[in-house]
Amino acid sequence: MNNIWQNLKESKQPFCVLAPMDDVTDTVFRQIVAKHAPADLMMTEFANADGYCSPGKEAISSRLRLSPSEGPVIAQIWGINPDNYFTMAQDLVAMGFAGIDINMGCPVKDMIKKGACSAMIQNPELASKVIAATIKGANGKVPVSVKTRIGFNTIDTEKWIGFLLQQKLDAIIVHGRTKKEMSKVPAHWDEVKKAVALRDEISPNTVIIGNGDVLTRAEASDRAKQTGVDGVMIGRGVFQNLFVFDETQTEHSLAEMLGILVEHIGLYQKTWGDSKSFEPLKKFFKLYISGFDGSAKVRAKLMETHSPQEALDEIELILKKS
Ligand SMILES: Cc1cc2nc3c(=O)[nH]c(=O)nc-3n(C[C@H](O)[C@H](O)[C@H](O)COP(=O)(O)O)c2cc1C
Repeated sequence: MNNIWQNLKESKQPFCVLAPMDDVTDTVFRQIVAKHAPADLMMTEFANADGYCSPGKEAISSRLRLSPSEGPVIAQIWGINPDNYFTMAQDLVAMGFAGIDINMGCPVKDMIKKGACSAMIQNPELASKVIAATIKGANGKVPVSVKTRIGFNTIDTEKWIGFLLQQKLDAIIVHGRTKKEMSKVPAHWDEVKKAVALRDEISPNTVIIGNGDVLTRAEASDRAKQTGVDGVMIGRGVFQNLFVFDETQTEHSLAEMLGILVEHIGLYQKTWGDSKSFEPLKKFFKLYISGFDGSAKVRAKLMETHSPQEALDEIELILKKS
């Protein structure tokens, strides 16, 4: 098996991973990150295995678009039916993903009602079936990981992560909060450290990645020193700073940032055509236009646009004036 987690563990301490983020880390955004400030590994938005194995397959498939220019990408999946995990895992291998990750951390009510995502923390029997089915579907060709939290209502690291470490997983991504805590409290990195100690005891070959509130590679290194994690995952940090994975931390001018935004809009148009609306793209404007004199005004102008072309015309005007 080409095990990307082991390869990264051996080549970079710590390695840094772009977190899966629904409606954010699609192929377009991943291509932008890969070109301008690459992470060592990236993840897709979560994709529903039960939807994938139903007539709704096409809607799910857009979440699995992949471009060779992205470098290694792990597909993240969720659902409740082990048979569907098996089928989807087989397809994900054929699609060229570097690995498969199972979402056992999402705290959203709709998913929990179904018994999926972080609800699995309370249902280890199903969790173990889903993991076994995915490993069987991956057939030794790509690694299988779980991204999870440290408990459901209360911190339960020892029991839950201890259980996961017995499931023959290649990696576990530990978001240092319970489901109940959502994102409302600082991540408990002391619990992530506990997970590393459990790993050393129970399953020394499982790679551990810590996640929660990290905003720079330097912070990732500090967390790794403190806790012993092999890798660190960064989510919201990339939404504040596109260059979060760039070790050089160079300054970028407004013209440069607008140039990348033009690229992002163009790629969005080319990739999605009319199949995705323009509105979701607007949430990226702040990423490109903040911290400059008059940023708020420029952003407000762009927020008033109604199509990719209108936004591109507006950016051209801004560039002419600046
Ligand atoms: C907009 C958004 C969407 C998210 N979507 C997913 C997802 O699809 N799968 C997942 O496992 N976690 C998802 N998360 C959680 C992140 O992957 C990450 O665990 C969390 O944001 C904590 O890391 P951070 O402090 O670096 O942001 C999402 C988070 C945000 C902010």
